[in-house]
Amino acid sequence: MLELIDITKRFKKTEAVKNMNMYIQKGEIVGLLGPNGAGKSTAISILSSLAEPTSGEVNFQHKSIIKDPQELRKIIGIVPQEIALYEDLSAEENMKFFGRIYRLKGKKLEKKVTEVLEQIGLSNRRKDIVKTFSGGMKRRLNIGVAMLHDPEILVMDEPTVGIDPQSRNYILQTVKRLNQERQMTVLYTSHYMEEVEFLCDRIYIMDKGNLIASGTKNEIKQILSSENTITLKADHWTHEFIDKLEKNPVIHQMRVEDHEITLVVSREVSIFSELAKLAEKTHITLTAVDVKIVTLEDVFLHLTGRALRD
Ligand SMILES: Nc1ncnc2c1ncn2[C@@H]1O[C@H](COP(=O)(O)OP(=O)(O)O)[C@@H](O)[C@H]1O
Ligand SMILES: [Mg+2]
Repeated sequence: MLELIDITKRFKKTEAVKNMNMYIQKGEIVGLLGPNGAGKSTAISILSSLAEPTSGEVNFQHKSIIKDPQELRKIIGIVPQEIALYEDLSAEENMKFFGRIYRLKGKKLEKKVTEVLEQIGLSNRRKDIVKTFSGGMKRRLNIGVAMLHDPEILVMDEPTVGIDPQSRNYILQTVKRLNQERQMTVLYTSHYMEEVEFLCDRIYIMDKGNLIASGTKNEIKQILSSENTITLKADHWTHEFIDKLEKNPVIHQMRVEDHEITLVVSREVSIFSELAKLAEKTHITLTAVDVKIVTLEDVFLHLTGRALRD
């Protein structure tokens, strides 16, 4: 349906997106996961025809949108990362203002505003001024505005950053429902791996302008099928303990925090007795040893050596 082919975007000094390939099929929820500065917003503004790439091609139904974005713009809804609302207007007035930009009017506009307010759970705040809304309510209204013209594709740029867990849940459930009940195609951008894991059929993972993994959840997790993630907990660590772990050849990755160490090791090796002995020898009292089920966060750590939220 929509496709990025070999997209590069260069700003003066930064290459925000490098040779990126990506596609979205009708009816799926695609996740774009990556830490801050990865290039997610740049990639989706190119995909949505809001920015032009330095090189590469963007196709919508096999036709380039770089010169002719009109067809795409009719069927795409974009939820920007920054909230774009008029604070001094009510929820309804905001919706009507943006609805008119989409050339909706009269009874049709009225009906659509009622329907969307219902979907985003703001019917009872219809007449209230946006200034009085919580962060989560503003986020929901921001999403509602992008849904007024019944878009076939909804592009969401980190729609849950900085809001309360309840609003966040509400947004995630709404996205899932829109996809299931109305077959809405969704591109969901986030740096929260658990959101992407919950919502998405297919996932792209970006870091520093590069796509570092893509595929279904299971395909991506198979990158780690030969490895285990082990978490150790203790009140404190010693240099000797950390030094010995660093020198252990079966440990592929290691992240040290104050009371927790995360290790990625080959699946087939049994390292537990070795860890216990080492702890004893270096006077560390381990309070917990855990083997984790593979998550997308682990895949990211494996591929980059850093946590998503560093
Ligand atoms: N308009 C711009 N001018 C210059 N640099 C930019 C611009 N937009 C983004 N960048 C840079 O491109 C990189 C990727 O940014 P962005 O796409 O916003 O990442 P993300 O959305 O994943 O946080 C960052 O290094 C950012 O500073
Ligand atoms: Mg961004």
